[in-house]
Amino acid sequence: MRNLSLLTLLFALSLTRLSSAQVRQNYYSSICPNVESIVRNAVTAKFQQTFVTVPGTLRLFFHDCFVNGCDASVIVASTANNKAEKDNPDNLSLAGDGFDTVIKAKAAVDAVAQCRNKVSCADILAMAARDVIALAGGPSYAVELGRLDGLSSTAASVTGKLPQPTFDVNQLTSMFASHGLSQADMVALSAAHTLGFSHCNRFANRIYNFKPGAPIDPTLNKTYAAQLQSMCPKNVAADIAINMDPFTPRTFDNQYYKNLQMRMGLFTSDQALFEDSRTRPAVNAWAQSSDTFNKAFIAAMTRLGRVGVKTGSQGNIRRDCAVLN
Ligand code: HEM
Ligand SMILES: *[C@@H]1O[C@H](CO)[C@@H](O)[C@H](O)[C@H]1NC(C)=O
Ligand SMILES: *[C@@H]1O[C@H](CO)[C@@H](O)[C@H](O)[C@H]1NC(C)=O
Repeated sequence: MRNLSLLTLLFALSLTRLSSAQVRQNYYSSICPNVESIVRNAVTAKFQQTFVTVPGTLRLFFHDCFVNGCDASVIVASTANNKAEKDNPDNLSLAGDGFDTVIKAKAAVDAVAQCRNKVSCADILAMAARDVIALAGGPSYAVELGRLDGLSSTAASVTGKLPQPTFDVNQLTSMFASHGLSQADMVALSAAHTLGFSHCNRFANRIYNFKPGAPIDPTLNKTYAAQLQSMCPKNVAADIAINMDPFTPRTFDNQYYKNLQMRMGLFTSDQALFEDSRTRPAVNAWAQSSDTFNKAFIAAMTRLGRVGVKTGSQGNIRRDCAVLN
């Protein structure tokens, strides 16, 4: 009996391995040959309407992959009977423009007869995430495709799956490792915080009453701490958000690591990457060379895109990304 369940477990593990290896470049070359340019055009049109398209889509991809795998489960809307992932309080205020980007790209794909209901929402999100990075001045790369859309999405499944801004390097490393991502992948992916906004409450603990005897986090640059206090006064309105990269908030670049060297990482989880001797060498290397950083980031994004990929009977292709078929 015990042996049997061990075998079942090993079999399940090998299936996971197999399915995560099943994404590949050019997956749609005969199914929907122009899918990448159709998605890119839709994402570009959305980007021209609002810059929030960029951080919104990139963060949506991360949250999708970390909760139940890269299966577009994060996009599913709640119904009367089911509170979906996006309505977990831990959804950390995902920007509506990220969802809208995927919905619009899906409509553009489905407007082509050959492609209708042939391209998964999960793959559209993976392509869109690649495209917004390039639109913000970052590197482009060939994206692996072939994911199916997940069959469920529950708010409860989000709890404990996403990293918190108060995490230290041990906590960050083990959470990324649980998805098969290395410490280097974690440091590279964190550079996504070169774009976008954070609400004041996500780092208020670092600038007010940090701990007895140290009102401000000692690993925070004093000049920057004063700026943060003026942008985020005590009792600030809950909807006030500030740029996470104060220098180049609309450019995907390696400024994030330069900020960490100046002790201007916004979250404890950002600054920890410089303070911890295990991750500091990567921070310094990538602050110095945007070329080396870009390569590491692309490799890490590709591995992120393989997390928990659904194939065969584990998924389907959703007709409406926000509704389970
Ligand atoms: C390493 C652990 C991470 C932690 C603790 C973390 C935490 C956070 C928090 C607290 C915010 C602010 C949300 C708000 O107040 O609205 C944020 C924003 C953001 N995060 Fe992360 N994150 C992490 C990793 C990542 C990764 C791996 C990516 C993507 C590859 C990412 C992409 C983003 C983006 C683009 C934003 C800005 C969103 C916007 O402006 O709408 N983060 N993150
Ligand atoms: C995130 O969760 C909160 C609280 O459950 C909810 O009010 C909000 O609408 C959600 N945000 C998105 C973008 O779904
Ligand atoms: C604090 O930030 C300023 C730029 O805002 C920088 O010139 C200075 O070197 C930083 N201080 C430390 C200790 O890194």
